[in-house]
Amino acid sequence: MLFAFDDAQCRSLAETHGTPCFAYSGEAATEQFTALRAVLPSRVRLAYAVKANPHPGLLARFAALGASFDCASIGELERVEALKLPPGRTFFAGPGKRETELLRALVMGVRVQAEGFEDLARLDAMADREVAVNLRVHPAFDIDEGNRIIGGSGPSAFGVDEEEVPALLQKAAQLRHVRIRGLHVFAASNQRDAAKLRTIHGAVLNLAKHLHEAHGMTFEQIDLGGGLGVPYAPDEAPLDLRTFGQGLSGLLAEHAWFTDELILEPGRFLAGPCGTYLARVVRIKESRGTRFAILEGGINHLIRPLLTGQPFPVRAVGKGHGTLSYTLAGPLCTSLDRLGEVRLPELAPGDLLAFGTTGAYGLNEGMTHFLSHPVPPEVWVE
Ligand SMILES: Cc1ncc(COP(=O)(O)O)c(C=O)c1O
Repeated sequence: MLFAFDDAQCRSLAETHGTPCFAYSGEAATEQFTALRAVLPSRVRLAYAVKANPHPGLLARFAALGASFDCASIGELERVEALKLPPGRTFFAGPGKRETELLRALVMGVRVQAEGFEDLARLDAMADREVAVNLRVHPAFDIDEGNRIIGGSGPSAFGVDEEEVPALLQKAAQLRHVRIRGLHVFAASNQRDAAKLRTIHGAVLNLAKHLHEAHGMTFEQIDLGGGLGVPYAPDEAPLDLRTFGQGLSGLLAEHAWFTDELILEPGRFLAGPCGTYLARVVRIKESRGTRFAILEGGINHLIRPLLTGQPFPVRAVGKGHGTLSYTLAGPLCTSLDRLGEVRLPELAPGDLLAFGTTGAYGLNEGMTHFLSHPVPPEVWVE
């Protein structure tokens, strides 16, 4: 599903809320969550990665469907705290956790994904009771070769380098309150190939087995991170959920030594398909053989295409398909402000464009402060 809203809904949203604006479909959120949940073995916990989109409507919807939450800052922790969830449903990861954030996590009873000895030592100094944490490990092998977001087996700001784990365990054994009871490995990014995900997750479980056998680590939880992909173009196949679920069941059967809980932290998969961004064409400009459509919003609202080269799918509302080439530019005073090179029907000022799959890494990642343009409304649609 590239677009959560049809033409009539897009027109009505634009008229009611003005443009540019973001709209999120509650129905699509429910569909994404329930379809994924349905294929997962019962001992896989789904923790929504709040960074993908912290909109309160999405958080409330996923909470009601039984989600746990993966947070990456005090701001995200506060949003999840407002949901008043039972203990055990919130996780806190991030390579630069400040003391105030760790203290908040401790008070909230949140499970911390420790990224180094500093996290463990700081928590230990604050705690007055036993605190279970997961240890994020940066594998010594390329877990998803060539994936720029995962970053390969080179130096990393994330987690503890695998070869440093034995020394860290020795130091951690001296701590009074903190106990390492889980493993976290961030292993994939926008991966739509179920077989590839099985290979990647298998590699994480093999690493866990090695840490268990060679260093005596035991795990209540093994967190496989996020990275379940969604299509961004009509010719991209969606993740085959049944094969994905079977892959995880197969891996659990192969790793009979591990009898506890697996965690998945999808952000993009759960939130991406729910969102549509609506913006109107302000002007059309031809420049030296290139036809620009200059829009009301650009990378101030959608910066992903600039960061990853992956454009969002776009359609001209009410105009059907077309074959004219356009460079979509935003209103910012930088030539980096581009949303893609697309083929659309002939456009005119005032035409409405809908960008699909913008429910994840959309507005909350944009450069909304730059040039002080008004921040677009975000509309929750039941
Ligand atoms: C620790 C962690 N978990 C989960 C996610 C979510 O990833 P995705 O949206 O690709 O599922 C991220 C993304 O950066 C992450 O850093």
